[in-house]
Amino acid sequence: MIRAAAAELSRRVPDWPKIAIVLGSAQASFAESLEDRVTIPYAEIPGWPVPRVAGHAGELVVGRSGSRRVALLCGRVHLYEGWTPQQVVFGVRVMGLLGVKVLILTNAAGAIRETFRPGMQVFLTDHINLQGTNPLCGPNDDSLGPRFPDMSEAYDRALLELARQTARELGMEAGEGVYAAMLGPSFETPAEIRFLRAIGADLAGMSTVPEVIAARHMGLRVLAISTVTNMAAGLQQRLSHEEVLETGKASAAELRRFLESFLARVEV
Ligand code: HPA
Repeated sequence: MIRAAAAELSRRVPDWPKIAIVLGSAQASFAESLEDRVTIPYAEIPGWPVPRVAGHAGELVVGRSGSRRVALLCGRVHLYEGWTPQQVVFGVRVMGLLGVKVLILTNAAGAIRETFRPGMQVFLTDHINLQGTNPLCGPNDDSLGPRFPDMSEAYDRALLELARQTARELGMEAGEGVYAAMLGPSFETPAEIRFLRAIGADLAGMSTVPEVIAARHMGLRVLAISTVTNMAAGLQQRLSHEEVLETGKASAAELRRFLESFLARVEV
C-alpha cells in the first residue's frame, strides 16, 4: 500500500521535496504560508489513514518556503484512535519512498521538567517508548531497512545543532529534552508523571515516536519539536484537550518563524 501511495504522489508531484514536516495539533497554519502550493487530501491517497480527532487536519501540502521546497503532512493519526502502528507511520514511510532525506516532526506535549513553560518549544534529544508497541513489529521489509535498526542517535545531532543556532538567532526560548511516548488517550496520572520523571523523561506525549522509529529504519534524518501545551499532571490543576489546542495555536506563530528560518539553513 505504501508503494501505491508513493506512486500516486509522484504522479501528482513529479519532483518530490527532500524535506517533509509533520505538523501536529493546531500547527497546520504553517501550510498557509507556503508558495506555489499543491494540496492533496489524505483521503485521495490510496491507503493513507485519515485523522478523526478535532483539531487535526488531514492533507498533504507541497510548496515553497522561501527558496526551499517542502512537503507538509498536516494532521497525523494516533495509536489511541485505534490505528495500527503501521498505519500510524504510513505517511512517514511514503515520504521515505519518495526520497525525503530530512523529516521534521512537531507535536504537542505536557512538560514534566519544571523549568519548561506552556508555549515553549522543546527540541527532542531522545525518547522513551512506553506505547507498548513498535511500528517495526511483524515481518521486516528488508527493502525499507534492517530488522534491528540502531536508535542510539535517533535525533540527528547536526539538525539539533542547527535548530539551536536558529532558535538563538531568533531570540526564541527553546528547551531540549527526552520525550516519553504514552499510548493515551487519557492524560497521565500524577503518579505516572513522577514515574516518568524518575526514568529520565522531560515531556509526555502521545505521538511522534512511532514515526521517528519508522524514519530511522529507512535512514531519514530526524528533528523533532514539542510545543509545550501544558504542565504535566500533578504540576498544574487540570488538563483538557481544549487547553492543549489553545496553547498550541498561540505558539504556532513562533514555531512557524522557526521552521521558515530553519528551512532556509538546512542542507539536504
Ligand atoms: N500528556 C500527554 N500528551 C500530551 C499532553 C500531556 O500532558 N499534553 C499534550 N499532549
